[in-house]
Amino acid sequence: MTPILPIEDDKALTRAADMLRGGGLVAFPTETVYGLGALAESEGPVARIFEAKGRPRFNPLIVHLPDRAALDRYVVVPQEAERLAAAFWPGALTLVLPRKAGAPLSLLASAGLPTVAVRIPGHARSRALLRAVDGPVAAPSANRSGRLSPVEAAHVEASLGGAVDLILDGGRCDIGLESTIVDMSGPRPTLLRPGGVAAEEIEALLAAPLRAHDGDAAGKSAPKAPGMLASHYAPGLPIRLAARAAREGEAFIGFADINPPDTFASLSAAGDLREAAANLFPLLHRADDPARFTGIAVAPVPETGLGRAINDRLRRAAAPRD
Ligand code: TXA
Ligand code: MG
Repeated sequence: MTPILPIEDDKALTRAADMLRGGGLVAFPTETVYGLGALAESEGPVARIFEAKGRPRFNPLIVHLPDRAALDRYVVVPQEAERLAAAFWPGALTLVLPRKAGAPLSLLASAGLPTVAVRIPGHARSRALLRAVDGPVAAPSANRSGRLSPVEAAHVEASLGGAVDLILDGGRCDIGLESTIVDMSGPRPTLLRPGGVAAEEIEALLAAPLRAHDGDAAGKSAPKAPGMLASHYAPGLPIRLAARAAREGEAFIGFADINPPDTFASLSAAGDLREAAANLFPLLHRADDPARFTGIAVAPVPETGLGRAINDRLRRAAAPRD
């Protein structure tokens, strides 16, 4: 059994940092989702992440650091990226930046790319953990590859229990959706994944629209962000979108005024997108119960602000699977 310890506890935090330094796998909460962490200074611990998740090797990972100063050993920070860093870090933003020559960083973590995705999490205790580790921590969402992201310690245990050395429990994640990923390594800022920071806020700060990542058209062989694999973030049950009423056997997840009498739960009865984002994965986890339901239906969610990230995750959850 994998031990689960409170991240608020200093002894637990020290133990987790020691485990990470020793090459172990530690799941920890951030303000977005729970991460499956490993020290990213060498290949061995990072390889364990891929193994535990059953994740395709070509998928690069996000490297987590405690503060801005820690970035300089690993990546080049262009001026525009610096502005985003100052405005949104610590927080739910991941920046893809050019890798520094000779960076003491696992190549596997960035899948051999000339860039590295980096993030300074907003969760204060996770930053304390990173500071105690005193090294780069690669951390994808702490779920088996392609499945729902965990926003509670119990989700991690259900998905990866036994495959990780320790789970730090910080309760429910505040935002509940993965970080927004912006590629700042090229000539124009490109949105690779909508997430916890609304794209509109980033565009307002840059005073320019983010380029949309156009998947295959980029002609790259490796997917830039695997969120782009059609089916991702998927529950076990089939999922139906933009639904206005439940069909026989379905768990109906409402939003705003779409709450028919047999509604299972609402993302946000008030129509609040922040609340809906935080409720998305927990509700999908709860509704994903084949003993009770044959499918999941979700009411339409507007395509603005965090609604963009919510719809992105929902579309992938609903996409045909292999
Ligand atoms: O909120 C989050 O971002 C969470 C928490 C734990 O920080 N982490 C997370 O990691 O969602 P993961 O591995 O599930 O998603 C990482 C994304 C993938 O879509 C990956 O392709 C992209 O980041 N990525 C990583 N490195 C990249 C790079 N060098 N270039 C482009 N995309 C990259
Ligand atoms: Mg993930």
